[in-house]
Amino acid sequence: MNHTDKQKPIHQGEVKRSPIGVFDSGIGGLTVVKRLASTLPNENIIYFGDTARVPYGSKSNSTVIEYSIQNTKFLLLKNIKALVVACNTASSIAIPDLKKIFDIPIIGMIEPGSKMALKKSQTNKIGVIGTRATVGNLAYSKEIKKLNDSAKVIEKPCPLFVPLAEEGWIKHQATYEIAEEYLKELRDAGIDTLVLGCTHYPILSEVIQKVIGRKVTLIDSGVASSEVIKSELEKLDLLSDSKQTGIQEYYVSDIPAKFKEVAELFLGKEIDHVHKVDLEVLISER
Ligand code: DGL
Repeated sequence: MNHTDKQKPIHQGEVKRSPIGVFDSGIGGLTVVKRLASTLPNENIIYFGDTARVPYGSKSNSTVIEYSIQNTKFLLLKNIKALVVACNTASSIAIPDLKKIFDIPIIGMIEPGSKMALKKSQTNKIGVIGTRATVGNLAYSKEIKKLNDSAKVIEKPCPLFVPLAEEGWIKHQATYEIAEEYLKELRDAGIDTLVLGCTHYPILSEVIQKVIGRKVTLIDSGVASSEVIKSELEKLDLLSDSKQTGIQEYYVSDIPAKFKEVAELFLGKEIDHVHKVDLEVLISER
């Protein structure tokens, strides 16, 4: 694939009313969509969940970059005006490449989550949980330390949280046991703030909060990023001028019925418009 030319959105007309594109490896990015839809109720959102290739967190950096490029190309076919990388793994690895290739505003999760953690923490002793890739790349430690070099950051990969969330095991006993195993080290370290550094994790936030303790503030990427997305679009004069409530449309690369089931459980409402997309075909047609 030749990535040398910057690719512009293919639409010319009503850019402001074009949808915001959001992608994740699976259902995790819905935690961002949920917040985004309440912060920007008039925006249309096109979501792509790469359910055929989830998890991203255990893949190599080059694979995550390639998948992220393909996902963005697919969303550009839907005329998106801006891209939200609602996946911490892809945000920590692929954003520089995406920005080099695509000529639309691109917003990730790491900077908003880091800023919010520093804002909420009283002690600057911050825990971060994420996929192996996000933690292995020290994405949050680097960003938080860049913003405040006296902060102490402890990171811990929690890879099993992703399949538990994809499975819809929101309050299952097994989820408690796994959370206890993963989080005891962070609890003993006396952190006062915990960044949910994977967009799948807020789906399990009730369990995580119970296990880490009520005194620890959880930082949700969706909450942290939606205000940033709003101000970024405002700055670029790209906010929708429509008075109608926005529509959310969902695309997945595998098993739409399972996505719909877990998404409805998490969003607490019925969702329509879940389409299966054959990425390879769509990309090769371009
Ligand atoms: N939800 C994603 C993240 O924020 C990726 C999880 C995965 O695919 O491993 O990192």
